[in-house]
Amino acid sequence: MSRLGVKVGSVSLKSPLILASGTCNFGHELSEYYDLSILGGLSSKGLTIRPRAGNEGVRVAETYAGMLNSVGLQNPGVDYFIEHDLDYMRSLNTGVIVNVAGHSYDDYMEMIRKLEPHKDKIDALEINLSCPNVKAGCMSIGSDPDQVFEVVSGMRSLTGLPLWIKLTPNVTDIKSVAYSAQKAGADAVVLINTMLGMVIDIRTKRPVLHNNTGGYSGPAIKPVAVRMVAECSKALSIPIIGCGGIMDYKDVIEFMIAGASAVEIGTASLIHPTCPVDITEDLEKYCEENNIDISSLTGTLQLW
Ligand SMILES: Cc1cc2nc3c(=O)[nH]c(=O)nc-3n(C[C@H](O)[C@H](O)[C@H](O)COP(=O)(O)O)c2cc1C
Repeated sequence: MSRLGVKVGSVSLKSPLILASGTCNFGHELSEYYDLSILGGLSSKGLTIRPRAGNEGVRVAETYAGMLNSVGLQNPGVDYFIEHDLDYMRSLNTGVIVNVAGHSYDDYMEMIRKLEPHKDKIDALEINLSCPNVKAGCMSIGSDPDQVFEVVSGMRSLTGLPLWIKLTPNVTDIKSVAYSAQKAGADAVVLINTMLGMVIDIRTKRPVLHNNTGGYSGPAIKPVAVRMVAECSKALSIPIIGCGGIMDYKDVIEFMIAGASAVEIGTASLIHPTCPVDITEDLEKYCEENNIDISSLTGTLQLW
């Protein structure tokens, strides 16, 4: 393994860099820009039982230091994904992370039952308990430690695949939600999904997004994400995957010092599709210069 190899529980990745769900689809488009096999993994667009067209009208808005989206889980449905995209993701020679969304306890169980027969092609299931852009389920489940416990326990009883639980920052106490996931048998937590926000057009006095609110991502949310990773790192014994506002290799190192075993890159790929290539090169150089393996950084934070 090179100096960039990391482990997230039982899952070995050749690099800590994973493309974040919803910002890389299933890899088809980005593979035209660079060889995705340099990555630790790719997290699929959030999948649901049935296909979803997503929300209507304007669905993205830029801000000074990030963007808001209210895509609303547009996806072809899990059956279509299994038939048309899963083998493609596997062929990319990188970690295959399948992102699962739902509106209810039963939805999540059905998703696991559909994916379980294909477990040989999947490295981990990333369970989205945090999407702010749908009317029911997802974030409302992920904001309540009891519901998180119930859903994760249910999924745990149905699969031996690694369960990475992706949590929402739109809560007062992230530790208690993350701890519930761990207690229910999660293999890792992913911190964070987007923060709920609004942008108003001052001419019309209406929100720019037709869903009124959207999920805020990009550089502005990084300090919130780093704080949550640091807090959970002290409270949990399972690995953490950091996500939120990563733009360059220093951001990756910051997340790892805070306690992340791996990281996900989202909005940065939408701005500079090849940024993971530069980040990989810079991380390799950093490890060489400091004579370290990247994994040695995880959890080295010294609080005052
Ligand atoms: C356009 C867009 C679509 C997204 N769709 C999903 C999704 O389907 N499932 C999910 O778990 N997260 C989704 N996310 C959240 C990202 O995976 C990531 O958690 C978030 O954007 C924060 O990281 P970033 O600041 O690097 O973008 C989406 C984000 C964006 C910008």
